Amino acid sequence: MGKIILNGEIKNRSDVSVDIEDRGYQFGDGVYEVIRVYNGKLFAGEMHLNRLLDSAKLIQMKVPFTVAEMETRVKELISEDGLQDGIIYMQLTRGVSPRTHVFPSSDVEPVFVAYTKEIPYTGKMKPGAKGITTDDIRWLRCNIKSLNLLGNLLAKQAAAEAGCDEAIQHRDGLVTEGSSSNVSIVVDGTLKTHPATNLILNGITRQVMLKLCADHGIPYVEEPFTVEEMMTADEVLYTSTSVEVTPIINIDGGMIAAGETGPVTKKLQQLFSQEIERQCGSID
Ligand SMILES: Cc1ncc(COP(=O)(O)O)c(C=O)c1O
Repeated sequence: MGKIILNGEIKNRSDVSVDIEDRGYQFGDGVYEVIRVYNGKLFAGEMHLNRLLDSAKLIQMKVPFTVAEMETRVKELISEDGLQDGIIYMQLTRGVSPRTHVFPSSDVEPVFVAYTKEIPYTGKMKPGAKGITTDDIRWLRCNIKSLNLLGNLLAKQAAAEAGCDEAIQHRDGLVTEGSSSNVSIVVDGTLKTHPATNLILNGITRQVMLKLCADHGIPYVEEPFTVEEMMTADEVLYTSTSVEVTPIINIDGGMIAAGETGPVTKKLQQLFSQEIERQCGSID
């Protein structure tokens, strides 16, 4: 580890510091991505980098890098750090400028930072997770992967304090997403997940999973579902870059799917592992 990309250059982490007038630091005025690395290779790298640029566009931030340029730099970082299994965290802030709410002038360049973190691979079949339900108190642009995560943090903290892994957020009883994941249910063999609207982040894992459903004949619909539907669903699962495809087997203390990983979730876990191997090589 120990290296960091700052704008176009790879530096030693100890040589890089945050300017207190960085708008990311003062306002959370920026966007970010987390990309998984298996066997030293990016998983769905292009999709993540495209989403980073899409998020930047949605907050009217001009980015002086292309996806290809960022991908090249990020691959250099993986190689310099010798990262095998882990993540790359990256963020773009609106730059360094005296504090005022109005955007700085166009000659202020965004600040791009990326670094790696090692995470050992924990196996293909994830053990079941526990969730709580909670009101979705966030803003109405959840499709932007913004640095402003206070609503998500409060939800995750409530889950942690309840001894659970994830907080499943809902608006007036309609499930939106987890605090750092997308949530799906399975009823009578059909997977149901919230449509990719402004109310959720369109997870890359979610998109990969839906493509796997389409390619392998697993029926799915992108429709909102209620908390009640979820509590009586045959299966509940959550997806993200970190948890991949993981069953949720207990919500608010009540058992889901008799506390077991259901058949559709199992199948999706297998297909997801195959997809990782297709993109990054064997993960055993
Ligand atoms: C709020 C939220 N929803 C969904 C996701 C899942 O996105 P991805 O699969 O791209 O990691 C995340 C991941 O961090 C998230 O923070």
